Amino acid sequence: MEALAVRPGGVYLDATAGGGGHLREIIARLEDSGTAIGIDRDPDAIAWIGAQISRSAATVILEQSPFSRFDSVLERHNIGAIDGMLLDLGVSSRQIDAQERGFSYMKQSDLDMRMDPSAGFTAAELCARLSEEELARVLRTYGEITNPMRMARAVKACGKRRPLRTSIDLVTCLRNEYGPSFPVKVIAKVFQALRIAVNDELAELCACLSLAVSKVKKGGRIVVISYHSLEDRIVKNFFRDGEQGCVCPPVLPRCVCGKKILLKRLNKKVVIPSVSEVENNPRSRSARLRAAEMVA
Ligand SMILES: C[S@@+](CC[C@H](N)C(=O)[O-])C[C@H]1O[C@@H](n2cnc3c(N)ncnc32)[C@H](O)[C@@H]1O
Repeated sequence: MEALAVRPGGVYLDATAGGGGHLREIIARLEDSGTAIGIDRDPDAIAWIGAQISRSAATVILEQSPFSRFDSVLERHNIGAIDGMLLDLGVSSRQIDAQERGFSYMKQSDLDMRMDPSAGFTAAELCARLSEEELARVLRTYGEITNPMRMARAVKACGKRRPLRTSIDLVTCLRNEYGPSFPVKVIAKVFQALRIAVNDELAELCACLSLAVSKVKKGGRIVVISYHSLEDRIVKNFFRDGEQGCVCPPVLPRCVCGKKILLKRLNKKVVIPSVSEVENNPRSRSARLRAAEMVA
C-alpha cells in the first residue's frame, strides 16, 4: 500500500484481486470520488470478493478478466487511464486450499490448475497432449528441473499405462521413477512448471506490463509482487528498460529510435518480507516486490 500511494480521489486497479485483501486496503483509502477496480481471471475469486466487500463510499468495480486484457474492462466502464495498479502474482491461498482446484501436490484432487476453469487445458490434459520434448521444455523453463527429459519420459510413460487424472497420480509417478524420498521441493517445482504452462502466466505478465505503461497516468504507480525468479526477472527487466531513453548508437547525430523514458523505479533493490512477516504468513516467504512511477 505504501508503494501504491493511493490518492483518495484516484482510480486504482487491483489486477489480481484474489482473496480481496489488497483490494479492501485500496478501498479503505479512497473517498467517494475514488474508484477501485478489482479483476481476477478466477470467477470464484470475483464472486467471493463480491460477497465479502461491504458498502463503501468509493465506486467499486469487480470483473472476471485476465489481466492481459484489463484495458477492455476499463473501456467497458469508460475509464481512460488509472492512477495506479497492483499485481500480486501467482495463486491465492484460497486457490491452494481449495482441494478440487488441483494446485496442491499434498492433496488428492483433479490435476487441473486452471485459474479460470472455463478456459484452456487442465494440467492433466497438458501432460497428455504435449510431446516428451515439449513437456521437457516446460519442466526445464518453468520449473528449472535438471535432466527434464528423464522426467518427461517418465510422466508420458505413466500416462500411457493409465491416464494421469489426479495430483497424487503425478506425485506417485514421480516417486516410482525417482524413489520414495524424491524431494518435495522438486515436486513443488514440477507443479509450478505445469501451473505456469496451463495458465500461460509469463506471457500474461508481459502483456499486462506493456498495457500498464499506456494506461497508468504520469505520476501513477505500478506495483508488482512476484513469487519466483522467472516472474521477478521479467518485472526487473521491464522496469529497468522503462527507465532507459534513446538507445540509438552515439554516432547518430539525432535520435531515430524514438524510445522515451517511461518510468522511474521506486526501489532499485527488490523488497522482501521481514522475518516477522514470514513468521506470521509463511506463504509470503518468496514474495518479491518491485514498484515504479510513471514519468511520461
Ligand atoms: C496471490 S493471489 C492475489 C491475492 C490478493 N492480492 C489478496 O490480497 O487476496 C493471485 C491472484 O491472481 C489471479 N491471477 C493470476 N494470474 C492472473 C491473470 N493473468 N489475470 C487475472 N488474474 C490472475 C489468481 O487467480 C489469484 O486469485
